[in-house]
Amino acid sequence: MYKLTLVTGNKGKVKEIQAMLPDVSLEICDSGYPEIQADRLEEVVSFGAEWLSKRIEPPFLLDDSGLFIESLGGFPGVYSSYVFRTIGNVGILKLLEGKARNATFSTVLGYYDGSLHIFKGECNGKIAESPRGTQGFGFDPVFIPEGSEKTFAEMTVEEKNRYSHRSMAMRKFIESW
Ligand code: IMP
Repeated sequence: MYKLTLVTGNKGKVKEIQAMLPDVSLEICDSGYPEIQADRLEEVVSFGAEWLSKRIEPPFLLDDSGLFIESLGGFPGVYSSYVFRTIGNVGILKLLEGKARNATFSTVLGYYDGSLHIFKGECNGKIAESPRGTQGFGFDPVFIPEGSEKTFAEMTVEEKNRYSHRSMAMRKFIESW
């Protein structure tokens, strides 16, 4: 069976990615990497991949994602992880009171096999009026993808993978692999 190292400490990401790679044995590396302050997810992934390439055996895959809310000028975007840890979903809902709720979730995957290959996936949608659902992780209870009435947190992994930013990026990666 083909082996691939997935660099993440996030079990939710592992489940979603493993569901799309049923014939691959994923080895999880949860040691992390420095997430630099940058304007774009691609820069975070490039720096992370370069740093990891000196420390772990290729091939490996890493995922950096963010939630970009239009009426907040793309915030929290590259600051998503900090914002989730500090104000969380409730804080995001407060910031959006009286504002338009369109948002895009993005994932940038970096696949390193001696050189770096970048795959980007995006999912347009909107921020729910209140949190709903118990599955998934992070901003899933407040994100409703276009084409569905459910939040990601009301979906199984398989359903989320029909819509999500991560699954779009994964499809591009799988096609090129
Ligand atoms: P990370 O830097 O890629 O780990 O993600 C930044 C923040 O966005 C973290 O707080 C994650 O929990 C959150 N996040 C990343 N991907 C998703 C997702 O697919 N659904 C909901 N939240 C996510």
